[in-house]
Amino acid sequence: MKPYIVSVDGPAASGKGRIAKYISKKWKLKHLDSGMLYRRLAYILIKDNINIKNPKEIQVKLDKLNGISFRNNKYLRSQAVSKASSQIAIHSIVRLFINRVQNSFVKENLEYNRFVIDGRDIGSVVFKNANIKLYIDVEPEIRAKRRYKQLIDSGEKSIYQKILKDIILRDKKDKTRKNSPLTIPKGSVIINNNGNFIRTIKQLKCYLDN
Ligand code: C5P
Repeated sequence: MKPYIVSVDGPAASGKGRIAKYISKKWKLKHLDSGMLYRRLAYILIKDNINIKNPKEIQVKLDKLNGISFRNNKYLRSQAVSKASSQIAIHSIVRLFINRVQNSFVKENLEYNRFVIDGRDIGSVVFKNANIKLYIDVEPEIRAKRRYKQLIDSGEKSIYQKILKDIILRDKKDKTRKNSPLTIPKGSVIINNNGNFIRTIKQLKCYLDN
């Protein structure tokens, strides 16, 4: 049977992850956070001192990797890994590798048959035939405030202006890259996440409640 897929795309710190987790719990869909895969790979490459600007060096490492862990950890959310993950995401070899991991994840978990997958190119490239496509929209200043609070709460030192600058830069990188740029996928529903979470999830019900 063809899997049922809900894609959740949107810019950095737009709350995609929280929304995808909510959908996963409420409507019993298996969740995959594709950003975490880019972060995990960036972390591995930095740790191994690989020049992340050089696709050839990255390819050598990818050939040696058997797979990639889906586990989250605090360091994967740090500013350094955030920046490196959007730097490696421009390379087509990296995108092909991560897309393969995502497709295998769905194939290996077919007993669930229902998935919610969040990222930047899920509804536009990786799962173009997703049953429901959501695009999360939030002003950059609101995203920066939320990310700042997250970092402070997790004990990392942080400066709001720097976070805002990084978010704007990451948006630019994600939207203007040649390979799979961040776009509003065709046929998607735009979810406004500028306000509080309750207001956001109210917008989901009519699309997921049947
Ligand atoms: O969503 P998150 O911020 O965790 O993603 C980390 C980085 O990985 C993003 O800045 C983006 O450049 C990249 N990414 C991507 N395509 C995806 C998911 C994430 O390019 N599907």
